[in-house]
Amino acid sequence: RSTPLVLGIETSCDETGVGVVRGTELLANTIASSMDEHARYGGVVPEVAARAHLEALEPTIRQALAEASVSLDELDAVAVTSGPGLAGALMVGVGAAKALAVSLGVPIYAVNHLVGHVGADLLDTDAPLETPTIALLVSGGHTSLLLVRDLVSDVELLGETIDDAAGEAFDKVARLLGLPYPGGPEIDRAAVGGDPAAIRFPRGLTKPKDLERHRYDFSFSGLKTAVARWVEQREAAGEPVPVADVAASFREAVVDVLTAKAVDACRELGVPRLLLGGGVIANARLRELAAERAAAAGIELRIPPLSLCTDNGAMIAALGAQLIMAGHEPSTLGFGADSTLPV
Ligand code: KG4
Ligand code: ZN
Repeated sequence: RSTPLVLGIETSCDETGVGVVRGTELLANTIASSMDEHARYGGVVPEVAARAHLEALEPTIRQALAEASVSLDELDAVAVTSGPGLAGALMVGVGAAKALAVSLGVPIYAVNHLVGHVGADLLDTDAPLETPTIALLVSGGHTSLLLVRDLVSDVELLGETIDDAAGEAFDKVARLLGLPYPGGPEIDRAAVGGDPAAIRFPRGLTKPKDLERHRYDFSFSGLKTAVARWVEQREAAGEPVPVADVAASFREAVVDVLTAKAVDACRELGVPRLLLGGGVIANARLRELAAERAAAAGIELRIPPLSLCTDNGAMIAALGAQLIMAGHEPSTLGFGADSTLPV
């Protein structure tokens, strides 16, 4: 059998992503984002995202095919994110993918968004995915730690956030510091010259009694509240808020917990490598601390290029191709969008 040519569709949040791959070869990765439309609300608005996908999907599919120099009738299969994510947003992608697959007479593969993030590493030509691996996935919508023994047959959720996602915490803290959305890059900029040890903000779910039940889970809402309270007290006392110190100290609290738990998971479960994914991976301090701690623990750290870390269609296509090459049956057309789809 020849290597499958797969088109992947991703619409779980605010990026309309369409990718084309041949096996593990990346041919196109086209993104249309509705980020700008959400900026004035300070976060992603589900209804706005769904409508934006509906408008962007068809032109994005055309653009991806053109980029890949592939015509529709050459496709061997269509893959699509069926969850987890925003229900209405997912439905647009699922509906379009089904229509495309039926009209072309090709099989369709419904895939999990989080597993897709891991699959993105297949496309990293310098060092493609190896298993077993621990995967730390951090974005505005999710914060999850996965144990991946086999990409298509054995992925286990070790832990996840019990409240806000890490990116969401960046967005909320940026907002209370008067910085625009999305907050991650803004906090990064504001933290320049700040002292990360200036304020000791809480590290969620790291106390011994929390660790019993939440060994690999995360929590960021307490941190956000602590930052808010600290800033309020400063303002109430009529003192200026040292924004650089607050930003640097907040960022340190987030990346400290993320990297500590991820590296602990590698060590405790005997897994020799750690893969990072999701939009928050753009954070320079997160990369730095992860590299430092992984090296100290003798663990290989893998960070795909950022264009494959943020939500995209190529990772979904890559996972679809992998399912085909592993001999998996396609999905039957009865599947729907599942906003809480487990891995
Ligand atoms: O993966 P992504 O593009 O998709 C969504 O979750 O929609 O991630 C976006 C999130 C936002 O919350 C944004 O604030 C965060 O990633 N982010 C960052 C940085 N760049 C983006 N967080 C921390 N540091 C950054 N440099
Ligand atoms: Zn994602």
